[in-house]
Amino acid sequence: ELEYFFPMEQTVACIKPDGIGTKDAIIDKIHEAGFRIAAQKETTITKDIAEEFYAEHKDKEYFNDLVQHMCSGPTMFMVLSREDAVSGWREAIGPTDPEKAKVEVPDCIRAVFGSSVLENAVHGSSDPEHAKKSIEKVFGHLEFNSDGTVKEMKPVTEQEE
Ligand code: PPS
Repeated sequence: ELEYFFPMEQTVACIKPDGIGTKDAIIDKIHEAGFRIAAQKETTITKDIAEEFYAEHKDKEYFNDLVQHMCSGPTMFMVLSREDAVSGWREAIGPTDPEKAKVEVPDCIRAVFGSSVLENAVHGSSDPEHAKKSIEKVFGHLEFNSDGTVKEMKPVTEQEE
């Protein structure tokens, strides 16, 4: 019998301001789907950060609404580790629009916790490059162990000894 092993991958998941009230239940779903939360940070982002985070959508008619929503309360940023994490997390959250999600994938995270295309509870990086950039922006430079945990970064003074 053959066993296939795929390398651990990281993605960025966000619990958006409208999802924060149900964050414990969302975190349960994250673990059920086999992800390890390697790092997390809950913070209310500024308009500048929100605009940078969603820069690829800046020409969309909904851009200002999206930025305003993201600044309206805290967001939980997480680095998730798993095999095939980027596409796996997008699959777990489901379609952008919760109404569509409820019909197509009734048990996905947005179907259960989202209420509209704006208030859709969670975000996920669209590809590995985006994931890497978002990790750098939110958490700084992280390196990972093969089990998906963050490698302990020794303070500079200790490394020099
Ligand atoms: S994606 O990831 O590019 O395929 O998704 P997309 O459908 O383009 O949506 C990207 C984000 O824009 C938000 N969005 C909207 N907000 C308000 N009004 C409307 N009509 C709307 N359409 C899309 C949506 O919440 C997505 O945010 P994230 O945080 O990525 O889920």
